[in-house]
Amino acid sequence: MSDIKSMDAAEKVEIALDINGRVHRVRVEPRKTLVDVIRDDCGQTGTHIGCEHGVCGACTVLLDGEPVRSCLMFAVQVQGRKIRTVEGLQRGDDLHPMQQAFMDHHALQCGFCTPGFLMLAVGVLEKRPDISDEEMLEVLSSNLCRCTGYQNIIKAVRAAANAMRTAG
Ligand code: FES
Ligand code: FES
Repeated sequence: MSDIKSMDAAEKVEIALDINGRVHRVRVEPRKTLVDVIRDDCGQTGTHIGCEHGVCGACTVLLDGEPVRSCLMFAVQVQGRKIRTVEGLQRGDDLHPMQQAFMDHHALQCGFCTPGFLMLAVGVLEKRPDISDEEMLEVLSSNLCRCTGYQNIIKAVRAAANAMRTAG
């Protein structure tokens, strides 16, 4: 009987998630994915859900600075680690250089893929500011966009990389 109870997937556990420097204490089922908890329980709906199986990259967030697909992780796995989402990019009234470059270069249409691309590109450039264009192309190829044809996303990321190097 107790085994059955311990396997009850609906039994909730309390966890604390650090999202953009703010701690969210929530009670969630252990089977609940990180992206679902970020959106449903923590109210940070900027992170999008596309394929839900690790293919499209729409759910990309930074975990201790590394881009990860938050649909492939359980929220209970990431306690004590620092999560950054698209809501954490802007500083006051100022857009992050990556957000500004996406606007300036028309790098989005419907915008569904955009939070994932922003977090992927920011995460990589913060660790590797001098990454080559070819390597960045390879990185960006991991995320899917159904609207833009990618060229303007690539232009925007190159422009933001230059802006971040200059600022940095
Ligand atoms: S929703 Fe996570 S990779 Fe597509
Ligand atoms: S802008 Fe629509 S999916 Fe990328």
